[in-house]
Amino acid sequence: MSAVLYQADIDLAPVRTRTLAIIGYGNHGRSHALNLRDMGVERVIVALREGSPNRARAEADGFEVTGLSEAAVRADAVSLLAADEAHGEIWRTHIAPNRKPGQALILCHGFSIEYGLINPPADADVVLAAAKGPGGAVREAFERGGGLLGFWAVHQDASGGARDLALAYLAALGCGRAGIRQTSFREEALADILGEQAVLVGGVCALAREGFETLLRAGIRPEMAYIDTVHEIKYIADLIHTRGMAGMYEAISDTAEFGAHEVEGAIREAVRPVFEAVAADVISGDFARRWVADYEAGRKSLMARRRAAADHPVEAAGADIRAGSARRTP
Ligand SMILES: NC(=O)c1ccc[n+]([C@@H]2O[C@H](COP(=O)([O-])OP(=O)(O)OC[C@H]3O[C@@H](n4cnc5c(N)ncnc54)[C@H](OP(=O)(O)O)[C@@H]3O)[C@@H](O)[C@H]2O)c1
Repeated sequence: MSAVLYQADIDLAPVRTRTLAIIGYGNHGRSHALNLRDMGVERVIVALREGSPNRARAEADGFEVTGLSEAAVRADAVSLLAADEAHGEIWRTHIAPNRKPGQALILCHGFSIEYGLINPPADADVVLAAAKGPGGAVREAFERGGGLLGFWAVHQDASGGARDLALAYLAALGCGRAGIRQTSFREEALADILGEQAVLVGGVCALAREGFETLLRAGIRPEMAYIDTVHEIKYIADLIHTRGMAGMYEAISDTAEFGAHEVEGAIREAVRPVFEAVAADVISGDFARRWVADYEAGRKSLMARRRAAADHPVEAAGADIRAGSARRTP
């Protein structure tokens, strides 16, 4: 793996000289399009499906909006920022039949290459240019004069310029202000999906719900239980983000730290077999197959689980507290 690269190390010409199609205008699509334009990429087209609720926003932001197939005809490089589970369908229906020979493909997640949703022809440069974080943060960091950490990888280098394209794209997002590192499609996909399932989303929500219910069984009122198992996650997460876990322990009370050290071992042992099963499921591709199948069946399973999560008593318990926080936050 190569060294960390910064803005000054990178030539933006590979993106400034191309017509770039941004497919999707959600969280990442909008931030990418705006940052690229602000960094001097003049030929940015936004490509959306029929009836997209984001068309008006893209037009209000001053972009030319086309259909997906037209963008594939015109672009020198396509940045596929639509939902990962739709990549196979978009590729088969719109890009593959219409693309210019030699057109490059830029992805922001390793998912669709690692799990075979897209099989690009040999004439395509295929690169990963992943700004690590939620799409809105790509723009917010850029506007503050910073950027998110960037990761690049090359899946196919047909032109000999694939690495330079990935680096130029990430630098145009502002990632070179924070540092750009090399990865592989496989590493990015597995780390991202395992991390969000085991810890960042699945793990945190499971621990918070279980903790909330434990406090209720111990006779604590719901509002108080919510504060101590959900609301305060932010304060601990912010400390870990800026100081690391060891720094977080130093910043909290000794009572909290002593108690945490006493229980962490038992919690880790309890979840280890679950995490091993999650890892096997993600690495084997079984998770990706189930998710794409659910997407193709109208996301019935996702929607049912989303409704069940919204009905959990933890949501009602926190409603007033969240409303109060929203009123205080400028
Ligand atoms: N590397 C990282 O750390 C990281 C982090 C977050 C996200 N990402 C990646 O960024 C990409 C976009 O994520 P996001 O958060 O921006 O998603 P998002 O906000 O949900 O936006 C999704 C966009 O995809 C479009 N779309 C969905 N299904 C489509 C279909 N069948 N045909 C055409 N367009 C479709 C939506 O179209 P409409 O406008 O019509 O609704 C929307 O514009 C994904 O590849 C994701 O994995 C990477």
